[in-house]
Amino acid sequence: MERVITQDELQEDNFEKNIRPLSLEEYVGQSEMKENLSIFMKAAKMREESLDHVLLYGPPGLGKTTMANIIANEMGVSIKIASGPAIEKSGDLAAVLSALEPGDVLFIDEIHRIPKFVEEILYSAMEDFVLDIIIGSDASSRNIRIDLPPFTLVGATTRAGDLTGPLRDRFGIVCKLKYYTEEELKQIALRTSKVLDCNIDDDAALELARRSRGTPRVVNRLFKRVRDYALVMGNGVIDLEIAKLALDKLKVDALGLDDTDYHLLKSIIEKFNGGPVGIEAIASSIGEEQTTIEDVYEPYLLQIGLLKRTSRGRIVTKLAYDHLNMPYPFNK
Ligand SMILES: Nc1ncnc2c1ncn2[C@@H]1O[C@H](COP(=O)(O)OP(=O)(O)O)[C@@H](O)[C@H]1O
Ligand SMILES: [Mg+2]
Repeated sequence: MERVITQDELQEDNFEKNIRPLSLEEYVGQSEMKENLSIFMKAAKMREESLDHVLLYGPPGLGKTTMANIIANEMGVSIKIASGPAIEKSGDLAAVLSALEPGDVLFIDEIHRIPKFVEEILYSAMEDFVLDIIIGSDASSRNIRIDLPPFTLVGATTRAGDLTGPLRDRFGIVCKLKYYTEEELKQIALRTSKVLDCNIDDDAALELARRSRGTPRVVNRLFKRVRDYALVMGNGVIDLEIAKLALDKLKVDALGLDDTDYHLLKSIIEKFNGGPVGIEAIASSIGEEQTTIEDVYEPYLLQIGLLKRTSRGRIVTKLAYDHLNMPYPFNK
């Protein structure tokens, strides 16, 4: 695997890479996406063409980077990795594109963060496999056009809404990743147990799954921590008792909420009377970045119905008051 421009990928710990599934078959859940991709990939192979460009979107940790790698593996091509925030100038993107080999997958993570004036270069690259660049400035400037080999752009983003229309329209295949079910997360925990050669009981795997906010990355992280408790406090096997003890110590509650979730919900209740309140006000009241709240915390709270988004701002629901053991001050 070759790396072009990377940021997050380098910081990613080896742990996460080792347990990453490498084939469609090993990839748990997201069955609709898998079925579609599998057909499109087979067809592309039969036609001896590169796969159409793919946009993967959804909250962090649901398997976008994993799927980008699987696409390259299944197509039998190599993957080059770039990341949106690292592409600041037209030249950055031109360098990435001109290094592509025929058939390559170019994975651009956080593609919504490419500056708009740079993004335009992608349009002709995606549509006609040509690179149009302007060399020089003012009167002496001229356009040059470079042919590119056919390639597949796989873009990943947590926010499809932040992509411009023209960019979104150039992806032939658009996949929305969904939160995983408990059963799927349990399967992932069992898979991780095999890869790490660390036994976990079925009911303990289910407990991890329940508290993982629908997210494979979280189930794996929890697995790793719980494994430490099992080693030090038990006999190395993760049973239900150890799992519960460890999860409680890690302050991950029965719904998978952690301190920040509590802080967020309680602030809205205590400082803003339960809402509606704007995201900026929430962010400054709990001292988190607005984008972190929007990408990481809020989607899950919305999904499980503890938070509601209205045109006037966020509202904490009765379900949340109940979960926090706080009296609901409004009429039902
Ligand atoms: N469908 C899946 N099946 C099994 N493991 C998965 C799946 N999706 C994600 N994972 C695991 O979760 C971790 C995070 O996934 P990743 O692809 O990095 O998420 P994203 O790029 O969407 O933030 C990976 O290391 C992988 O082990
Ligand atoms: Mg990723």
